[in-house]
Amino acid sequence: MDHNATTPVDERVATAMAAAAGLANPSSVHEEGRRARDAVEKARAEVAALCGAAPSEVIFTSGGTEADWLGVVGGARAGRAAGRPARVVASPLEHPAVRGALAQLAGEGFEIVLVPADGRGRLEAARGEAALAVFARANHELGNVYDAAALAGGNPLHCDAVQAAGRVPVAMDGVDFLALSAHKLGGPKGVGALVARRGRALEPLFTGGHQERGMRPGTENVMGIVGFGEAARLARVEGPGDVGRLRDRLERGALAITGARVNGDPGARLPNTTNLAFEGAPGELVMMSLDLEGIAVSTGSACTSGSIEPSAVVLALGQARDRAKEAVRFSLGKGTTAEDVDRVLASLPAIIARIRAA
Ligand SMILES: Cc1ncc(COP(=O)(O)O)c(C=O)c1O
Repeated sequence: MDHNATTPVDERVATAMAAAAGLANPSSVHEEGRRARDAVEKARAEVAALCGAAPSEVIFTSGGTEADWLGVVGGARAGRAAGRPARVVASPLEHPAVRGALAQLAGEGFEIVLVPADGRGRLEAARGEAALAVFARANHELGNVYDAAALAGGNPLHCDAVQAAGRVPVAMDGVDFLALSAHKLGGPKGVGALVARRGRALEPLFTGGHQERGMRPGTENVMGIVGFGEAARLARVEGPGDVGRLRDRLERGALAITGARVNGDPGARLPNTTNLAFEGAPGELVMMSLDLEGIAVSTGSACTSGSIEPSAVVLALGQARDRAKEAVRFSLGKGTTAEDVDRVLASLPAIIARIRAA
């Protein structure tokens, strides 16, 4: 129930990676190098196909965080250098990877403008000219799905599609930079990609090597990239499966508990995610109680100097701190079964009752 944190590596991905373990350096010109290059390029074509891009637009990175940094920081710096205003307009609900990149830009003199969000996490479109607009395709905690291109207000757009890819359609229409991460779609951790539309101005975060057209120097993570390629192929061919029906069953059952509510926008959501809250039951206690029964969920809260901070995303919806602390994210995946859902529903009412009674 925590697939938004990571997904299990698909067996077929693991097999493909094991076969790639002995590959050489793709930059080597000898035959072994060429074999490694072929494997990387085959994976690149699969990642491109997942989002309707050209293979030459895919820049492999060390994961979603680096892809976000390359698109946000590299895209905004390049935009400013090309004469656009030193201003970035963004969603207030972004992942910490994006928020960190925005903080970096603020330190470099960019004005960061956050658009308003309503109580369900629906966003207002950007207004005015900026070096870059930054809007995720899907929110990691609420599961809300956005038309990022419509929100960008005509500005160049970086779109974090880390949680969306493999779960809802992801395309490059109106998108300049798109961030992906392999481990959210059945691939390995530690590899991702920024898909950068051809001709869009982008500055690399560091320099020195020629790899990835100079946009991401360093010898490629060949095994990881091969795994990412296979995971992208499977996501494209097989889709998310039955997960929406199971999520709805879970949500219906949980909402039968008195004082239960859903955070986010049920009208436009990932099929696998429900962010629930049970009035009077702190999410941390719900999470720990479920953990004791072998059920993994997440609260989105952070532990800062010994105290638990409620989820920044749920707080940004305007909820009071005590209410925001009740959020618990359930995120299903390809391997989730009806039995898994029923096990959660068998445990949850007693857990909530116990916490409320304590
Ligand atoms: C929306 C979003 N963006 C970026 C990331 C970071 O990806 P990675 O873990 O590959 O660095 C995550 C991971 O949780 C995410 O959910």
